[in-house]
Amino acid sequence: MKIDLSGRVALVTGSTRGIGRAIAERLAGAGARVAITGRDAERARQVAGELSADARGFACDVSDTGSVGALVEAVEQELGAVDILVNNAGLTRDNVLFRIKDDDWDAVLDANLRGAFAAIRAASRGMMKRRWGRIINIASVVGIVGNKGQANYAASKAGLIGLTKSVAKELASRNILANVVAPGFIETDMTAAMTDEAKQTLSAQIPLARLGTPDDIAGLVAFLSSDLSAYITGQVFVVDGGMVM
Ligand code: NAI
Repeated sequence: MKIDLSGRVALVTGSTRGIGRAIAERLAGAGARVAITGRDAERARQVAGELSADARGFACDVSDTGSVGALVEAVEQELGAVDILVNNAGLTRDNVLFRIKDDDWDAVLDANLRGAFAAIRAASRGMMKRRWGRIINIASVVGIVGNKGQANYAASKAGLIGLTKSVAKELASRNILANVVAPGFIETDMTAAMTDEAKQTLSAQIPLARLGTPDDIAGLVAFLSSDLSAYITGQVFVVDGGMVM
């Protein structure tokens, strides 16, 4: 099964490191022209240069809807209309419920949920005109099962699932597919603070007995970005080594 994305333009938010970078690398490897985005323009351009001659770097803070709109316009001008949108940028501000400040709530919801909404709103116009599009939102198993100390993060990721299903229904007639990938625990900067002991305890609860890697996520995203997924929309795909069944 060869995934061929040649001729496609892909925009991956938060793609200078971690899962986003692995996704961008995989899409570029399949032939897509990829827009690498991060809050630091120079870093985004550097990563784009490392990835592929056809990749370009752009600055964008997804929690600023104006910045997201400007990003989509800039990508369209430099690479062409966006065919594949991967909403990957995300952050955590973990705390027990009564210690979550309004700012912690807003920061997480603004980046993880409103940022995705703004990117979908901006990129789907062109997809509608061309009657082809793939929207892939990176949520989390926590958005399905909840988690102590992550009420804001879990709410943002659960919101992404509702957003995706609504978008899938609204845009299906234009051949635009929207799906969610919900990772379990993946080894990135986001989980770097976990001790080895905590990782071992966690692995013991995972049937595949290890944490995931960014590549474990990227393969599914590449499949969902391609023509191979033509009859799949509004779905949530959990990639967690079997932790949540
Ligand atoms: P990471 O922290 O390494 O990468 C997150 C990326 O998003 C970074 O490049 C960061 O700069 C960017 N970002 C954060 N806020 C941003 C903003 N306001 N504007 C633009 N970019 C912003 O984390 P990781 O693990 O690669 O996370 C990627 C996605 O996967 C996130 O949405 C995360 O919630 C999700 N996820 C990660 C899991 C894990 O175990 N690592 C598990 C489940 C979901």
